Amino acid sequence: MNIIKVESYDEMSQKAAELIIEKVKNVGRMNLGLATGGTPKGLYQKLVEDHKANGTSYKEVTTFNLDEYVGLSATHPNSYNDYMNRFLFNHINIDKSNTHLPNGLASDLEKECKRYEANIDASGGIDLQVLGIGENGHIGFNEPGTSFDSRTHVVKLEESTRKANSRYFQAMDEVPTHAITMGIATIMKSKEILLLVSGARKAKAMHRLLNGEVSSAFPASILKQHRNVTIVADHQARSGG
Ligand code: GLP
Repeated sequence: MNIIKVESYDEMSQKAAELIIEKVKNVGRMNLGLATGGTPKGLYQKLVEDHKANGTSYKEVTTFNLDEYVGLSATHPNSYNDYMNRFLFNHINIDKSNTHLPNGLASDLEKECKRYEANIDASGGIDLQVLGIGENGHIGFNEPGTSFDSRTHVVKLEESTRKANSRYFQAMDEVPTHAITMGIATIMKSKEILLLVSGARKAKAMHRLLNGEVSSAFPASILKQHRNVTIVADHQARSGG
């Protein structure tokens, strides 16, 4: 794993944006894997600013998001679909029909998972996947204990994850109990992975990622076995031990 050490959240966002913009400009058609949560908001803001200032084009870019809550419509303000529109897609020249998230309202969720996984494969796989990390080492919504062989699947969210994400909801009981997430094997199929880690809240997870063993008890540890992972971590995230 290649680690880029930066000082601040802003610098992390800037560095990540530069890496993505360079690819978008030079690769032509590409499949970009995207994440939600607090961590990549700054990155998306930088991509929007660059698009406005320099006209970087997303016409040839297709996106696949890691995950979506079960039970929230695409327009629900807490859905990841709405998040992506608000923070990125509405502000760049991407064709919305090229943006993909699992459908958390599908009547047959198992079928939806299979469809999503097949769609990623049929489009040639993900070239670059942006990732955040949960305090318990989750990636996407793959909680500790998830099989490294998992593909897109339905998960029951851990209470700690629901609690961490409740800051975006009015009340704890509004936080969905389930989500659809790319599996760990789905994420590992990506040709390249860009993991963003920021803040003291993530310092323990960062320390365990760098120093712990590869174990499904800490899902992000599998990234050590991927050929092309870049971690951009700010000072606070690196202060654990
Ligand atoms: C959420 C998301 C993950 C995200 C993680 C960290 O539950 N499903 O994709 O990486 O938790 O979130 P944050 O960046 O807000 O700390």
